[in-house]
Amino acid sequence: MSLGNHRFMTKITIAIDGHSSCGKSTIAKALASKLGYAYVDSGAMYRCVTLFALRKGLIKDHSFQESDIVKLLDEINLSFHFNPTTKSSETFLNGENVEKEIRQMVVSENVSKVSAIHDVRVKMIAIQRDLGKNKGIVMDGRDIGTNVFPDAELKLFMTADTDIRTQRRFDELSSKGQHIAFGDVKANLIYRDHEDAHRKENPLTQANDAILLDNSDLSREQQLEFVLKLISDLTLSTD
Ligand code: DC
Repeated sequence: MSLGNHRFMTKITIAIDGHSSCGKSTIAKALASKLGYAYVDSGAMYRCVTLFALRKGLIKDHSFQESDIVKLLDEINLSFHFNPTTKSSETFLNGENVEKEIRQMVVSENVSKVSAIHDVRVKMIAIQRDLGKNKGIVMDGRDIGTNVFPDAELKLFMTADTDIRTQRRFDELSSKGQHIAFGDVKANLIYRDHEDAHRKENPLTQANDAILLDNSDLSREQQLEFVLKLISDLTLSTD
């Protein structure tokens, strides 16, 4: 399959949703790089808001006043910058690179609840839509195909076996020097999946027109091949 040609075809929007730690960002980054598209990690944006609230001391013992966090929103400026050394996009909060800090367990433990706040979602979704207004974007998250870009030309819904996802997340945290017990990592994944799927606003759900990708037994290469074939079929039928 010729991939280079994709760069010159009509740009599309690719929405990737799914459960926590099932490799959404890995496939999203690979696709963006192959296609010459921008990649946006929408979860990183909710993580930034959570980090900001934690730093301000507004979250204590996993609880907070929604109104305190909403008041902070105007002080939060988010941006993404491509790092040529790591070849990936990194997240900046008020000009500071927080890519590492937003992946910490304390952020993971609180982000689902923060992301359920109405005003937080309104602000993040407005930024996400603006980033995607010219298409040529791959965005991953929980409500991208259902809510942020309901007209996306390609929607994927990703999942994988819980133990496999836990192992991947455990390995990722360990490689960054964060030694969290496997059981705690698993409990956090299960908790977040439940919170994300059961919240009132924009819950995690598979869009009717999303293609299911269970990557429990698939290598990165196999996943990429599967999705590139979908894009190739799509662009052949629309170009
Ligand atoms: O993708 P992630 O695990 O970094 O996302 C962190 C949290 O952000 C996730 O538990 C739910 C929330 N989120 C969301 O509500 N909507 C999105 N589009 C992306 C993430």
